[in-house]
Amino acid sequence: MLSKEFKTKGPSARLDEIASAANLTPEEKALFAQYGSLDSAVANRMIENVFSTYALPLGIATHFTINGRERLIPMVLEEPSVVAGASFAAKLAQPNGFTASSTEPVMIGQVQMVGIPDLKKAQDAIQANKARLTEKANAKDPMLVSRGGGVNDIQTRMLKTGRGDMLIVHLHVNCQDAMGANAVNTMCEAISPDLEALTGGQARLRILTNLAIHRTATATAIWTKDALAESTKNTLTGEQVVNAILDAYEFAKNDPFRACTNNKGIMNGIDAVVIATGNDWRAMEAGAHAFAVKNGQYTSLTTYSKTPEGHLKGEITIPVAVGLVGGATRTHPLAKICLKIMDVKSARDLGEVLASVGLAQNFAAMRALSTEGISRGHLKLHAKNIAVMVGAQGDDIDRIAAQMAQEKNVNAARAKELLEKKA
Ligand code: MEV
Repeated sequence: MLSKEFKTKGPSARLDEIASAANLTPEEKALFAQYGSLDSAVANRMIENVFSTYALPLGIATHFTINGRERLIPMVLEEPSVVAGASFAAKLAQPNGFTASSTEPVMIGQVQMVGIPDLKKAQDAIQANKARLTEKANAKDPMLVSRGGGVNDIQTRMLKTGRGDMLIVHLHVNCQDAMGANAVNTMCEAISPDLEALTGGQARLRILTNLAIHRTATATAIWTKDALAESTKNTLTGEQVVNAILDAYEFAKNDPFRACTNNKGIMNGIDAVVIATGNDWRAMEAGAHAFAVKNGQYTSLTTYSKTPEGHLKGEITIPVAVGLVGGATRTHPLAKICLKIMDVKSARDLGEVLASVGLAQNFAAMRALSTEGISRGHLKLHAKNIAVMVGAQGDDIDRIAAQMAQEKNVNAARAKELLEKKA
């Protein structure tokens, strides 16, 4: 899809290639130059008290094949090695790449009911009036309903708390291509007076949950023994790499301290794509980490196993509360184009890309950590950052970074020494 030289080109030549691979119009292409730093009028419409903008690098992950289709994946983030790691993992998974699937895009809205005299009776009353409550909620978003979305279930949960028993009402809403926060919150508010009348209690919080257990995406990939051996330049056998990654996985599965960092690495990739598409990465973060503890112990979001042939199989399932319409997905001029570059046609499709990127990112970290260690990959860009930190400019940055990387001695003191040496 992109040329072999893509990596070695400068940003504007890379943009030329992406524009042609993704069929961008000249106007769309121009927006990257124009809004690489966001126009202040646009920014001012997005949040309050805007006084400037804050730019981050936009990179592209390559080599992704998802459900048989090649995809280019835009990523916004500040951390070196993430884009390279995802691309490398995707390349090693070729030619089959990632197989991904997703559930219907169902979010849950919560209504907290307090002061209910008889919880059992209240639950029965809500269930008996489900159709009427559904109709009332759906009336708040006829457009969503006309596109096949809307409320598809209402459930209740009893909650014992320090301030007495509460009834938590869950409104299940198929949000189609919207993330759905506004629609779900409005629906929860709309049915609250009815819930109060039916239960004799008071409705308090009316808000969606980010623990989107009914809106998930799953991705799997197989990394063959041959590809894994090659990834170490055959310094290790494929079997050794598979076993090392399985050991690393068991560590993350059984130890929350490791699982936390393991999942942070997964979110390195996922958040970067979520940001590039104008979606809410805090929502994704909250959902992912809460999902990781759904069985009572915080654990890895990915699982790994050995196939009968001895290859490595990876799998991830994550909640994917993301949309293609609404919020910054429409107001940020680049978000739409990033979706076009990815060739994403629905929120479910975006979720499947996110799951694939999360799995790729985790595999890249697991492979590096359990073989040569993570620092080698980080070293070059890290060295450049250190050089800049001590005041190097222009050609000095590359000179100092290269020297430190060669010496495998990357620190501020050495960078300063090298900077002063020249002066
Ligand atoms: C660094 O941003 C991410 C890693 O720590 C992830 C991991 O340890 O799995 C490398």
